[in-house]
Amino acid sequence: MKIYEAKDYQDLSRKAANIISAQVILKPNAVLGLATGSTPIGTYKQLVELYEKGDLDFSSVTTVNLDEYQGLSSGHDQSYRYFMEDNLFKHVNIPGERSFLPDGLAADGAAECRRYNTVIETTGGVDLQLLGIGGNGHIGFNEPDEDFKKETHLVTLTKETRLANARFFSSLEEVPTHAFTMGIGTIMAARKILLLANGEGKAQALYDSFFGPITPRVPASILQLHSDVIIIADKPALQLIHQHKGAL
Ligand code: GLP
Repeated sequence: MKIYEAKDYQDLSRKAANIISAQVILKPNAVLGLATGSTPIGTYKQLVELYEKGDLDFSSVTTVNLDEYQGLSSGHDQSYRYFMEDNLFKHVNIPGERSFLPDGLAADGAAECRRYNTVIETTGGVDLQLLGIGGNGHIGFNEPDEDFKKETHLVTLTKETRLANARFFSSLEEVPTHAFTMGIGTIMAARKILLLANGEGKAQALYDSFFGPITPRVPASILQLHSDVIIIADKPALQLIHQHKGAL
């Protein structure tokens, strides 16, 4: 595991975009695992800039997203499909037919999970998985649990997660109660993991995930077993790691 400290959010975003861009340059038909949330927004902005400058070509890339709220249509402005269109897809040349997310409106949830697993398998697997992290250590929507769920599954969102995401909705009641998420097994199968964290609200989760015991109670802690993890975080997010481990 490599930890890079970013000077600020802009620096974090630039470093992350440079790594993703290197992946696409080295392997133009890379499969990128993408994430939503506020953390990667700056990274997507940087990728759009690199694309506009002509430094990056996504025409052979495939993308698979981590998760999607159940019950929201792709046109709902809080759906993750909408987020991806708005922040990345509509600005770059990723082929529409090769950008995948779970379908929030799928009538049969179990069938949708199976379909999404097959989609990911068919891509040949994720080369680079971008991750944020929840304040409770969740990755994608893999919430703290009794066990690690391997494949795409439907989760009941914790109150904590719904409260954290309520800032994007007009009321807490509007935040969906369930979501589809890629499983921990699929995330761990990615060849490279790039996890971003900023702000002191992520400090505990980051410390517990990378320096605490490996437990499904802290879903990101499983990443300690992955052989190629890059963490980019700002100082506030790294403060507990610094305190416990000294300077990095
Ligand atoms: C959300 C997403 C995660 C994201 C996390 C942190 O609920 N499902 O993929 O990493 O919570 O979000 P943020 O970056 O807004 O702090």
